Amino acid sequence: MIKKLRVGTLLLPSNVLMAPLAGYTCYPFRMLAYELGAGLCFTEMTSANGLKYQDRANCRLLLTTEKEKIKAVQLLGGVPAIMEHSACSELLKDYHIIDINMGCPVPNVFKSGEGSALMLDFKRAAAIIRSCKKSGKIVTVKCRAGIHKDQRFAAEFARMCEDAGADLITIHGRTRSMMYDGTPWYDEIEQAKAAVSIPVIANGGIFSSHQAIKVMENTGADGIMIARYGLENPFVFQELTGVPCEKSLLQILLEQMHLALTYYDETYTLSYIQKLASYGMKKRPGTKRYKESLHRSGSLEELEDILRKIFSDSQPPQSQS
Ligand SMILES: Cc1cc2nc3c(=O)[nH]c(=O)nc-3n(C[C@H](O)[C@H](O)[C@H](O)COP(=O)(O)O)c2cc1C
Repeated sequence: MIKKLRVGTLLLPSNVLMAPLAGYTCYPFRMLAYELGAGLCFTEMTSANGLKYQDRANCRLLLTTEKEKIKAVQLLGGVPAIMEHSACSELLKDYHIIDINMGCPVPNVFKSGEGSALMLDFKRAAAIIRSCKKSGKIVTVKCRAGIHKDQRFAAEFARMCEDAGADLITIHGRTRSMMYDGTPWYDEIEQAKAAVSIPVIANGGIFSSHQAIKVMENTGADGIMIARYGLENPFVFQELTGVPCEKSLLQILLEQMHLALTYYDETYTLSYIQKLASYGMKKRPGTKRYKESLHRSGSLEELEDILRKIFSDSQPPQSQS
């Protein structure tokens, strides 16, 4: 079930992928997920418009080094010419894979004709895929099961993506109107898998290794994409792939802090580690009382102290089955 995965010309080390997560999947987190066995990690969504104007915040999202062996950027945009401009731009020259965001449900994004709005416009979505393919890079798509419960069409959408030249499609089994809650429509993923020959990755609602395997079995998907659970328990990649790792969560968080500080400023590092630690505490009994001081810590020294308190004496996480 867990194996290497071919995508275009690349052979990924595993078919367990880490999802793009805005505010989290910066370079340090991607390096961690790769270290623990993830086969592919993505930058958080990066606005093609923002890249066109070389907006600083957007360009920061593209930070990577030669140590990240497989580089995948996720682009958000709704205009084929602008997507092509970004895909072919010097800014993305190091990236091997372009993932197109066709799933973001946020109202402002949807209203601008980007993210999940593209699921309602097959022609424009296909034109965007073809535009990105002009870069010569591998192009993947991340979409949803549909727009709402009476408007689900993952299989038709996957077929369109394949016809337009996509090399892989990830389906978040929830509809746009479900946002991030509720049980995903895994049958939509199963139907999409049966409809295309490019790899199909299942995403949504996976909160244990056991669930990851079950979703792969039930949908027949070629791989699985872990999202929020990867923040809660980064060891899920190790559990699924068998990659050895002796580190504790505390060690991992301190390493993340140092790596983040190497590439970003103190303000970013502080907020990133606070948010990551907060996810890590979710299923650790006895850690709630530290939450306030975690978020109140105003310096990295203070943060390190509180992390040591939280993660040295707390119980290991309790996973769902
Ligand atoms: C905080 C947060 C940020 C996200 N950012 C992105 C993003 O940048 N691009 C994207 O395609 N999906 C994004 N997603 C959606 C996830 O990649 C994933 O599809 C979703 O969380 C469902 O998986 P889960 O139920 O296992 O968490 C985000 C989700 C969350 C909760």
